[in-house]
Amino acid sequence: MLWGGRFEEEPDKNLLEFSSSLNDDIRLIKEEIQCGKVYAEMLCEIGIITSTELITITDALYRIEAEYDSNEWKPDPREFEDIHSAIESRLYELTGSEAGKLRAGRSRNDQVVTSLRMWCKKSAGQIKGLLNNLQLSFIQTAEKHIETIIPGYTHMQQAQPVSLAHHILAYVEMFERDKVRLSLVIKESDNLPLGSGAISGSTLPLDSNFLKERLDFKSLCNNSMDAVSDRDFVIDFLNCCSIGMMHLSRLCEELIIWSTAEWKFIKIGDSFTTGSSLMPQKKNPDVAELIRGKSARVFSNYQSVITLMKGLPLSYNRDMQEDKPPLFNSYSIYSESLKLMEGMFDTIEFDNTYLLSIMKKSTILATDAADWLVLKGIPFREAHDIIGKLVVYCIKNEKGLQDLTIKELKKINPIFDESVIEIFNLENSLNRKKTPGSPNPIFVREQIAKWKSALS
Ligand code: ARG
Repeated sequence: MLWGGRFEEEPDKNLLEFSSSLNDDIRLIKEEIQCGKVYAEMLCEIGIITSTELITITDALYRIEAEYDSNEWKPDPREFEDIHSAIESRLYELTGSEAGKLRAGRSRNDQVVTSLRMWCKKSAGQIKGLLNNLQLSFIQTAEKHIETIIPGYTHMQQAQPVSLAHHILAYVEMFERDKVRLSLVIKESDNLPLGSGAISGSTLPLDSNFLKERLDFKSLCNNSMDAVSDRDFVIDFLNCCSIGMMHLSRLCEELIIWSTAEWKFIKIGDSFTTGSSLMPQKKNPDVAELIRGKSARVFSNYQSVITLMKGLPLSYNRDMQEDKPPLFNSYSIYSESLKLMEGMFDTIEFDNTYLLSIMKKSTILATDAADWLVLKGIPFREAHDIIGKLVVYCIKNEKGLQDLTIKELKKINPIFDESVIEIFNLENSLNRKKTPGSPNPIFVREQIAKWKSALS
């Protein structure tokens, strides 16, 4: 027990189990042990412990790590409040009084937030790596589909043709923004709170800069009260997970729709789908559904921590221990989802001929026809109206724009001539796009080249 001295009675038997965070913060063991080693070195540098004591403490910390890795030592949440007290207790068993020396100037309040910042930096970096892999795999697929034309939708209604590559690259953009947000979390987490003690620093001559260098932090936290009670970086991390999962969930929604018998855009590989116990014909996109479903929990984890923090006065309050389960949970869901998405996406087959055929009888090139009139000097308002009439004609006669003969076109409006026929050619439609960021294969190729050099 780290705080027995002032107490005359033992804690209630239910208190420890209720209050222990060990099951969760055991995940910080590596960070915690590393901090312990560096802190001991610093205490030796400033003469609070001798170099012999430093060796004893360091050896014991290595041993605890090894014991934990080999399952020899498994601290029990019914015995310890958290990872900090568990390590301290084992250290005491191994070294005796030296263990107590490591506590000089340190509080669990600055310890927990130091380890948590280190964990956030590491984990945000890992997720960035997973996003990078996903982007590379999407770009590989996009490169094969620069000329594959699919309908682009607004309001879930066919709007204008785009290429499959263009559609896929939209997600690559989202993943890039997800990485930028994670980089901000890494930057934000990069201030060292150790040395802030419980609330207001220490009267011991602790060398914070030594700790900062050795623990690889960019700067020190400026205010000890803020340092022990700031969890903004946790909320920002959770926000990254939420927005990232929202992106994956939107993609999953598309893949689910695209794999239906009604749409038939894609086939997801057997290894990433499941069957039905009753209906032998079924092949279900469970992975996509589960990513979409699990995003709900990730959103609620964000909500949970921002609500947890909103009523807390300065500085540390025990409530803050509840930050870890949502943080670790969101991290696990998000990183697993990214891995599964990459695996699943690689198994997807697209049927190019079918994709083109679904637009054969459509009026998806209506805007292109209106633009053609604008280039002939017709105000867009009028052009919109003229093509609108053409669309009504197509619907009534069950025809696509490309099925209209020049005779029919002229009958509807004498302004049409032979050159409009080319406008209704789907295969060529993307090449006519002039604006950067559009699905013109020239721009798409440029984008792919840009991504390849940026990501490799
Ligand atoms: N387990 C706590 C947390 O995760 C850290 C310990 C601080 N406890 C205390 N009684 N000051 O936030």
